[in-house]
Amino acid sequence: MKTIYLDMRSKIEQEEMAKAGKIIRDGGLVAFPTETVYGLGGNALDGEASAKIYAAKGRPSDNPLIVHIAKLSDLERIAKSIPESAGKLAEKFWPGPLTMIFQKTEQVPCGTTGGLDTVAVRMPDHPVALGLIEAGGGYIAAPSANTSGRPSPTTAGHVAQDLDGKIDMILDGGPVGIGLESTIVDLTEEIPMILRPGYINQSMLEEVVGPVRMDQALLKDDPNLRPKAPGMKYRHYAPKASLTIVEGEAEAVKRTINKLAALEREAGKQVGIIATDETRGAYPDGIVKSVGTRSDEITIAMHLYGILREFDELEVSKIYSEAFDTPRIGQAIMNRLIKAAGHQVIHAE
Ligand code: TXA
Ligand code: MG
Repeated sequence: MKTIYLDMRSKIEQEEMAKAGKIIRDGGLVAFPTETVYGLGGNALDGEASAKIYAAKGRPSDNPLIVHIAKLSDLERIAKSIPESAGKLAEKFWPGPLTMIFQKTEQVPCGTTGGLDTVAVRMPDHPVALGLIEAGGGYIAAPSANTSGRPSPTTAGHVAQDLDGKIDMILDGGPVGIGLESTIVDLTEEIPMILRPGYINQSMLEEVVGPVRMDQALLKDDPNLRPKAPGMKYRHYAPKASLTIVEGEAEAVKRTINKLAALEREAGKQVGIIATDETRGAYPDGIVKSVGTRSDEITIAMHLYGILREFDELEVSKIYSEAFDTPRIGQAIMNRLIKAAGHQVIHAE
């Protein structure tokens, strides 16, 4: 199929948005920007549209999709037993990078929720996303718009790399603002539980609704603990080259990466290094890319997936990355990076 590309970076033409909305209403697929990452959208109330999403991404069918809405009043059609905390969280964080999980109504096909009787819902903070949801009938199921197992797309170009020719349309809204997927909080639990860390962290949620727990499977590297969000069990975002994270005190990290990179070079291998603006000059061996500056952690979140894609294009066989335990969204950044590394983390001496 020929994928139609619409440029909505500087303005949104109503006629074009209506065309995109019609594709969704007719059961087709449209990729669109949100403030977190690009999503691959289809009508959430149409099980066949959801099936097309799974097929285009090559996604395992037990991994449920997030339903995107544009108005709070639309929530009741798809969710039931909505707790009071949901209203408070929506008021504070919607539209925004927060996904909430509820019991689902009959309206939501099992094909959208991977067979679960719960539904994940989010109201994205992006004019193109909100316009498409309205034009498409109010309910858009959208996973990240990447091939399953690749880093989530933060530009329309990344979407095209993975899905050109497999979906009906791509709406280009320019690079996204956050670069990591939304925080997921499960409100079907007595105490709200974070299933995926994101830009909105535990203490921000606790300020609004009191105690919030973290899914223990996210904190411990224990294969017997199963994450409650089915998608968190997969080794997502895996770069082609083997990735190792080096954590520890800053000078020791530089020394250790340099030692390991020199060994790779001597063995005739090309090495990639993920550094920051502060450290990029400290690595003489290998291809060094700065992910952002430690003085502004959002720059690190923003560029992480793009850099993993860039290294996929280059023929490096090994990547070393500094660790990014930054104060506010460090937990989310490290959650994604550790998954990309397949849990290969070493401590610098
Ligand atoms: O920021 C985001 O959330 C992006 C943009 C496009 O909105 N979307 C996104 O979707 O990251 P996806 O499909 O890549 O990740 C959805 C995650 C998966 O880990 C999935 O298992 C989990 O949400 N999930 C969805 N519905 C769930 C449910 N009912 N119960 C538990 N986990 C659920
Ligand atoms: Mg994803």
